[in-house]
Amino acid sequence: MKRLLLVLTVLLVCHPEAESATTVPDGKAIFERNCSVCHSINPPSKSAPPIIPIASVYHRQFPSKAAGVSHMAAFMKAPSKASSKVDPEAITRFGLMPPMVLSDAELKAVAAWVWDMYNPNAGAGRGRGKGTGQGGGNCQ
Ligand code: HEC
Repeated sequence: MKRLLLVLTVLLVCHPEAESATTVPDGKAIFERNCSVCHSINPPSKSAPPIIPIASVYHRQFPSKAAGVSHMAAFMKAPSKASSKVDPEAITRFGLMPPMVLSDAELKAVAAWVWDMYNPNAGAGRGRGKGTGQGGGNCQ
């Protein structure tokens, strides 16, 4: 028991950020709760384009993380065909994304997480599924 208390004290002293966890939303947790029903991270897709290809599109179209995250957060609040950055075929195939009922801080946090999921080695449509041939028409 004493030992447990000691461990807890050490944890709190060494990890003061644990206390502020509620004020800084965790993008990954928000994704898992609100987005993963429709979005997989990697292909194959569920009912929406997977996150890694979306991240590639955003990295190609925006010069900075701040600009990309800001556009993505605004899109999620009020998706529209006109402000969509993904291949228009994705909207034909999956329909438009429904608006997200999340706070601005949560939208920013999850958008930043999506942005950071970018993997330069995966490319967008390049080198995907090496050795698996052409792949099966996954949305990109
Ligand atoms: C009900 C299903 C559904 C949910 C839930 C959902 N999405 Fe989507 N999302 C879609 C579909 C379908 C598209 C592709 C069409 C489009 O761009 O609107 C999409 C597209 C996107 C795009 C690309 C936007 C663009 O520029 O076109 C991003 C980024 C995105 N989703 C992020 C998220 C995040 C983050 C969440 C969770 C907060 C989320 N989505 C929740 C269905 C969903």
